[in-house]
Amino acid sequence: MLKTCIRGLLILLSLAVMAGCSLPSGKPQTFEIGDQTFLLDGKPFVVKAAEMHYTRIPAEYWEHRIEMCKALGMNTICLYVFWNIHEQKPGEFDFEGQNDVATFCRLAQKHDMYVILRPGPYVCAEWEMGGLPWWLLKKDDIKLRSNDAYFMERVKLFMNEVGKELADLQVSRGGNILMVQVENEYGAYATDKEYIGQMRDLVKGAGFTDVPLFQCDWSSTFQRNGLDDLLWTINFGTGADIDAQFKPLREARPHTPLMCSEYWSGWFDHWGRKHETRPAEVMVDGIRDMLDRGISFSLYMTHGGTTFGHWGGANCPPYSAMCSSYDYDAPISEAGWATPKYYQLRELLLQYADSGQVIPDVPAPYPTQQIPAFQLKEVAPLFDNLPEPKESEDIRPMEQFDQGWGTILYRTTLPEVAEGTVLVIDEAHDWAQVYADGKLLKRLDRRRGENSVPLPALAEGTRLDILVEAMGRVNFDVAIHDRKGITKSVRLATPDGSQELKGWSVYSFPVDAAFARDKQYAAADKPCNGPAWYRATFRLDKAADTFLDMRTWGKGMVWVNGKAIGRFWKIGPQQTLYMPGCWLKEGENEIIVLDLLGPDQPVIQGLEQPILDELHAEAPATHRAEGQNLDLKGETPVARGQLKAADGWQEVMFGRTVKGRYVCLEATDAQDGKDYAALAELYVLDAQGKLLPRLKWKIAYADSESTSWGNYTADKIYDLQESTYWSTRDKDRFPHQIVIDLGEEQEISGLRLLPRAEEGRPGMIKGYKVYVKSSPFRF
Ligand code: GLA
Repeated sequence: MLKTCIRGLLILLSLAVMAGCSLPSGKPQTFEIGDQTFLLDGKPFVVKAAEMHYTRIPAEYWEHRIEMCKALGMNTICLYVFWNIHEQKPGEFDFEGQNDVATFCRLAQKHDMYVILRPGPYVCAEWEMGGLPWWLLKKDDIKLRSNDAYFMERVKLFMNEVGKELADLQVSRGGNILMVQVENEYGAYATDKEYIGQMRDLVKGAGFTDVPLFQCDWSSTFQRNGLDDLLWTINFGTGADIDAQFKPLREARPHTPLMCSEYWSGWFDHWGRKHETRPAEVMVDGIRDMLDRGISFSLYMTHGGTTFGHWGGANCPPYSAMCSSYDYDAPISEAGWATPKYYQLRELLLQYADSGQVIPDVPAPYPTQQIPAFQLKEVAPLFDNLPEPKESEDIRPMEQFDQGWGTILYRTTLPEVAEGTVLVIDEAHDWAQVYADGKLLKRLDRRRGENSVPLPALAEGTRLDILVEAMGRVNFDVAIHDRKGITKSVRLATPDGSQELKGWSVYSFPVDAAFARDKQYAAADKPCNGPAWYRATFRLDKAADTFLDMRTWGKGMVWVNGKAIGRFWKIGPQQTLYMPGCWLKEGENEIIVLDLLGPDQPVIQGLEQPILDELHAEAPATHRAEGQNLDLKGETPVARGQLKAADGWQEVMFGRTVKGRYVCLEATDAQDGKDYAALAELYVLDAQGKLLPRLKWKIAYADSESTSWGNYTADKIYDLQESTYWSTRDKDRFPHQIVIDLGEEQEISGLRLLPRAEEGRPGMIKGYKVYVKSSPFRF
């Protein structure tokens, strides 16, 4: 199908050249940075880009999604290149079929759409390890996204391959690539201009010499690494105050064309957290504001699609893995449908069409089908299907056993264990089940920082099994150095000391469909008690899109006809998996489910609508127990005062250093005189005034957190995202308090706070008091 497509495309391309078409149809063009505007062939041009990822759309549907973007009124497609999907094994590059990013770009050109290329090497994007290959982590001391010699050597090899695929598609050479990005939001990671300079040189060295190169960052961080010879663009989300976001850039470079390189249409979903949405009107208003000011934009995401298989990433702190659906509440839904948000935006973009821009009718969606429920009757229990083990004296992470993704089992025998002994696992990444002689003792969830298992008395020689499922590798900030399996050690801890466990047999369960199929399946009438693969075939009259209903299942992965479809987890909010019809067959189809928790019923049906917002979390997302009230009587604040009514970061210095582990910020009123408080980010400063790491933080208490109209829990103040925030509920009155448990005692000299980015800084705190204690606060 793809080959036919390419052939048709080449014919069309040559026809377009012959016709001398002025759109991106084969004739060399210039794209330059002019005075406060981009210049396409010397004429002012506003980029209206739709971000979508070829990896998140079946190749068979690429063209449909591009047509959807064109019919929306966009003139450009913006995309990342995902290093880790192209180089899954070092030195083995794959740019074919689903990975054929050049064909994706050419399809955009076929529909007169330009391309903005973002080849990373780091891309973030809620994608496993932000797009970096896991095998980089085999080097113990690697420093990702730095001048680490090995990292740079591998980046160079990758970038040159990208160049071979795509450099000839620059507009100057008759293609449709307008601009190329260097790195991604590096200001949110580090300050290192030399590294960015080297990255720029690698991008140029790969052949991207003819079009502008740019850096994208936040308004608060773009100057940290801004290079003189690169264009600077700013990322922010729906609702942000456009003028405030561009103010520092306008001041730094009065003549630069302005571009919001990522305008977030919605947001991504985490397992166990409320489904994210952003209002259409607010998104559209922001785009109108930008177009009225001649500001270029890329709408991230215009179509989010699906993070198939195991490719989802995670955020940390706190560790929190991404759902498989990347619907993003974007204008084009996960299955490629035009949503009400799409039509509202289209109405606006029709009014702002470029001269000569043709905005076609909205293409029809692909048809969907219902599939009647069927049972998965063939079962292969995981513990009856162990692969050959590798022996290892010490505990080591998965990467050291040459395993990239999936599940790993660590097995050893115990010495005699007295009751009261605690098994301490440092650290289980990311979800572990601990067994003694096959009996489940406990499950450990990294999202909650769980690492210990109280043991009963156990005889010498008891078999200890620790089965660890790797969820997505962290895709943001320094935690991207995220090794999987067990990262450091396993100990038996008693009041008298601790003993490290050694002598492990290690079993790897990779994520390939072939590995899942190649098991001893046996017919079973009821679900297996424990982790197992389930298999079935089902017949279809037609191959149309559907949504696999996983509501009766526990936690694991699904493969259909050899394609990895995605992860499921009963806690939600995602309860269905998007199943593209192009991967189904008329006649017999095969499905395999690995369920590590075990299903209530091994039954699947196909639905015509997705279920993306059904949360069954085991614990509430908020941080205040029923009836719990913080008692600050008798406590003395270490600082009190009023914040300035201003955008951006502010510091609250104590004027001395205090020691403590628990920090309480009490807000007494708001700048706008209203009743609720909000805060986007908070840092605690050490004795030197430097930012303390937040990896071990927990919210010990928050008096009020809004979750009815969105996800505004207090942990948003340390999730590293300036666009997400803690907000109290409308009905609760001042004072408002949050208590942070830093995880260990620290020397503290102050706080650094960031209000919301929206116009008027809603909920910005005015009066504050800060309390610091070594022991927990009283309730
Ligand atoms: C940043 C990154 C993107 C993505 C968005 C959030 O802007 O650059 O890759 O992670 O945040 O969706």
